[in-house]
Amino acid sequence: MNGASYGGKRGVHAIYPGSFDPLTFGHVDVIERAAHIFDHVLVAVVVNPQKREPLFSLDERKRLIEESMRHLDNVDVADFRGLLAHYVKVKQIDVIVKGLRVVSDFESEMSTALMNRSLSNVDTVFLPSDPRYSFLSSSLVKEVFFLGGEIDQYVPLPVLRTLHEKRDLLA
Ligand code: PNS
Repeated sequence: MNGASYGGKRGVHAIYPGSFDPLTFGHVDVIERAAHIFDHVLVAVVVNPQKREPLFSLDERKRLIEESMRHLDNVDVADFRGLLAHYVKVKQIDVIVKGLRVVSDFESEMSTALMNRSLSNVDTVFLPSDPRYSFLSSSLVKEVFFLGGEIDQYVPLPVLRTLHEKRDLLA
């Protein structure tokens, strides 16, 4: 029996999975809103997604989320490998949270949500991205930064500092 149906005592536990390479204000906005709706939010950083090598190590990605989300006491950070559907069962998660920025997000997220529900019986709730961040992605932020653009308004301070450190190391 999961938390939500256990007399409501455990509360509703949500998971917000992602690569977070790195965390942006778009992610922060979704986490803050999810933390307002649900009793607990687990921000879960994926290990070895079928993507190219991340810029930030797993430990860096987790630390940057922890440092940036300290103001919320019902948010925790963890990592997972393998299927999200398996992880949500192990962690007794009640709901998966995803942010939706643009229509193209919806197309891919819809089939992922249905597959996750089919595998785990856990539903996905979509939070529409704040229009201020609807164009924002970790990849765009990295590209703009390394090409010399200003990104202060797109990422939390710990992320900005670590990006500067990385660029200094490369220089
Ligand atoms: O931030 P991202 O890269 O868009 O996040 C994608 C993520 C981590 C949520 C997605 O790749 C995922 O859930 N990966 C775990 C592997 C898995 O469960 N794959 C099957 C999805 S139906």
